[in-house]
Amino acid sequence: MKNVIVVGSQWGDEGKGKIVDWLSSEADVVVRFQGGHNAGHTLVIDKKVFKLRLLPSGIVREKKISILGNGVVIDPWALLDEIKEIKNKGISVTDENFMISESASLILPFHQEMDEIREDIAGKSKIGTTRRGIGPCYEDKVGRRSIRVMDLRSESNLDNRLKNVLAHHNAVRKGLNKKIYKKDELKKKLLKIAPQILKYAKPVWLELDKFIKNRKKILFEGAQGILLDVDHGTYPYVTSSNTVPSMASTGTGLGPDKLNYILGITKAYTTRVGSGPFPTELNNKIGESLGKKGKEFGTVTARKRRCGWFDGVLVRQTIKISGINGIALTKLDVLDDMDEIKICVQYELNGKKIDYLPSAPEDQFNVRPIYKTFPGWKTKTQGIRHMKDLPENAKKYVYALEDFIGAKISSISTSPERDDTILLEDPFKI
Ligand code: GDP
Ligand code: IMO
Ligand code: MG
Repeated sequence: MKNVIVVGSQWGDEGKGKIVDWLSSEADVVVRFQGGHNAGHTLVIDKKVFKLRLLPSGIVREKKISILGNGVVIDPWALLDEIKEIKNKGISVTDENFMISESASLILPFHQEMDEIREDIAGKSKIGTTRRGIGPCYEDKVGRRSIRVMDLRSESNLDNRLKNVLAHHNAVRKGLNKKIYKKDELKKKLLKIAPQILKYAKPVWLELDKFIKNRKKILFEGAQGILLDVDHGTYPYVTSSNTVPSMASTGTGLGPDKLNYILGITKAYTTRVGSGPFPTELNNKIGESLGKKGKEFGTVTARKRRCGWFDGVLVRQTIKISGINGIALTKLDVLDDMDEIKICVQYELNGKKIDYLPSAPEDQFNVRPIYKTFPGWKTKTQGIRHMKDLPENAKKYVYALEDFIGAKISSISTSPERDDTILLEDPFKI
């Protein structure tokens, strides 16, 4: 019996949605445990495209339970919009196949506005957030003043909680010359949608405990990537949650002893959206061609993703930090036309060679990548589903990568389509 945790091993957008959807055929329950609608997970099933932000990628399959854990920050209006959107595509979302933790914190309009205000004030030194209010909401959570799903149950309780949170936000807003939030207006808005949200609200830890007792298989769907983790990522150019797999326990209330197999989703090259250091970034034709071939535009914000070569030093580091057991290598097909392909195997910093990414942002911006070069395969791999069908040079690249990063490549994805995937080791069966 295995539970599988899927996390991104780079800066997000590694193809987690595709792999979670593919693996969810074997799972009974799919759970998000951190992040919010800053995530954008794309699924392609028989050419039909689903872009999910908050809903777990298991939602499109019948008879699977989808859950948002306490570690997720939920914009209730965004959630209702997404439910409506997916229902219009013929997917069923009911209180039987979907639940949210009653302890999850709510993203409110002033969080989203604060995200915008801060980014605008920061100008050139902005983080490049998704402007969804993620950071300000997590701040309120840690500050013990957030409004949680359960607060929607009682008007008097909601009133008290709003008084408390607005005392903080209105003081800050006053200082910034922004309009003051009126408690009663916001309360009215929240009470209007409360029944639609509360029908999904449950003590998720208890439900998960029951699933475990009934020997159900649970698939945890991470959002973002390890390099965006607030502790282990390229701080301050990170998101405001822990994206490491151990968060699957904290963010749901299921003990870490139930987290069995950690699958790191890893793109065959590197992308990043937003500001921050990116040692292997290619500001040239090769970078442009990766972006074009890989359709590297943000799922949530439509921003152009920055592209570069595979950074072996970084992925080796995130594998260690997060305890990744196996790798799903994605977007190998994007490299099909390359004459040669590079992997970063070391950095040089101030004339010295180093084997890891240093912690200080000024060093992270200054490291120079040292590459190992591989010949391209110049053959179409798109849609290949068996290892034996990969061209020799593609196999060599995959094995070299596996050897360098020190984790087994357990599957390889060769197109956005659900089943265009080479399975080498089934995470649920190890
Ligand atoms: P996520 O945030 O990790 O779920 O990734 P996104 O969905 O934001 O971005 C990954 C993009 O790559 C999506 O457009 C996917 O449809 C696409 N994709 C996933 N796997 C593959 C693959 O193996 N090959 C190609 N060409 N595209 C892929
Ligand atoms: P998925 O789950 C890629 C980035 C933003 C910004 C930083 C902080 O689709 O992989 P935030 O809005 O979270 O405060 O932004 O994190 N970011 C992502 N980048 N994929 C994501 O999610 C991301 N979610 C946030 O671009 O640099
Ligand atoms: Mg994404």
